[in-house]
Amino acid sequence: MSAPTRPLALVTGASSGIGLELAKQFVQNGFDLIVVAEDDELEPAAAELRGLGAAVSPVRADLTQRAEVEKVVAAVRGAGRPLDAAALNAGVGVGGPFIETDLDAELDLIALNCTSTMHLGKRIAQDMAARNAGRILFTSSIASQAPQPFQAVYGASKAFVQSLALALREELKDTDVTITSLLPGVTHSEFFDRAGLTDTKLGATEHKDDPAKVAEDGFKGLMNGEASVFGGSLTSKAMGHLSAMTPDSIAAKTFRPVAEPGSAE
Ligand SMILES: NC(=O)c1ccc[n+]([C@@H]2O[C@H](COP(=O)([O-])OP(=O)(O)OC[C@H]3O[C@@H](n4cnc5c(N)ncnc54)[C@H](OP(=O)(O)O)[C@@H]3O)[C@@H](O)[C@H]2O)c1
Repeated sequence: MSAPTRPLALVTGASSGIGLELAKQFVQNGFDLIVVAEDDELEPAAAELRGLGAAVSPVRADLTQRAEVEKVVAAVRGAGRPLDAAALNAGVGVGGPFIETDLDAELDLIALNCTSTMHLGKRIAQDMAARNAGRILFTSSIASQAPQPFQAVYGASKAFVQSLALALREELKDTDVTITSLLPGVTHSEFFDRAGLTDTKLGATEHKDDPAKVAEDGFKGLMNGEASVFGGSLTSKAMGHLSAMTPDSIAAKTFRPVAEPGSAE
């Protein structure tokens, strides 16, 4: 039997939202996939992706658990072919006042958004550096650019991801391994429901970006080896650039009225 000739990509959080759209981008551009999520929504997503013409290996893993992250590493290393690209995208939010939000939910958020992203990023970057080839896309957020009152831990987690991605990019600049971060703005997905943010202006707005557009921008940025990509609508891109230039104290005050519980009413 001849070895597969299509490149292989890993996408975490591929069962819905931005991750599912990133997975579609990879398939439409000729990649086979290893896709990861926690729940049984992963199987129909994998079937949809196979229908677009790719070989797709689903791996169900709760990435808040270190042993389950290693299960994903084992699936990647056991694929029998090199990993050409990885989109480390799985992430959740937790909305509400920091003194009231559930500590366990926030510890899980850090385990997923920060620890598992770092853990997978390290193993994958090590393997890619050894081969001197590969591309990694980290899903950060425009929330990484400013403090996020009423989703304080989420904002801090995305600042971690953004900093990690840019630092790793610099470390690997003399190799053929590229590191890109994707900074979406407010995007249609299951994120706001899961984060308990639906009673906020941020969660309730009808002006959310299309995850397909965000993913298309992210995929293009990844393939072009860009450092950071503000994905989605022109408004989100403008907000991302503005947020990056605004002093943290002012940005935090600006964000407060859209994220405060009850602000949607
Ligand atoms: N939506 C936005 O406005 C927005 C803006 C900026 C950045 N982002 C970032 O974009 C990324 C994707 O979010 P999304 O908006 O597409 O939300 P989403 O539709 O809720 O997708 C989240 C994905 O992460 C997976 N996931 C959650 N917990 C997991 C766990 N413990 N183990 C493994 N997988 C897990 C989910 O799978 P299961 O359902 O199986 O748990 C799902 O596939 C996140 O990193 C998020 O921070 C989103």
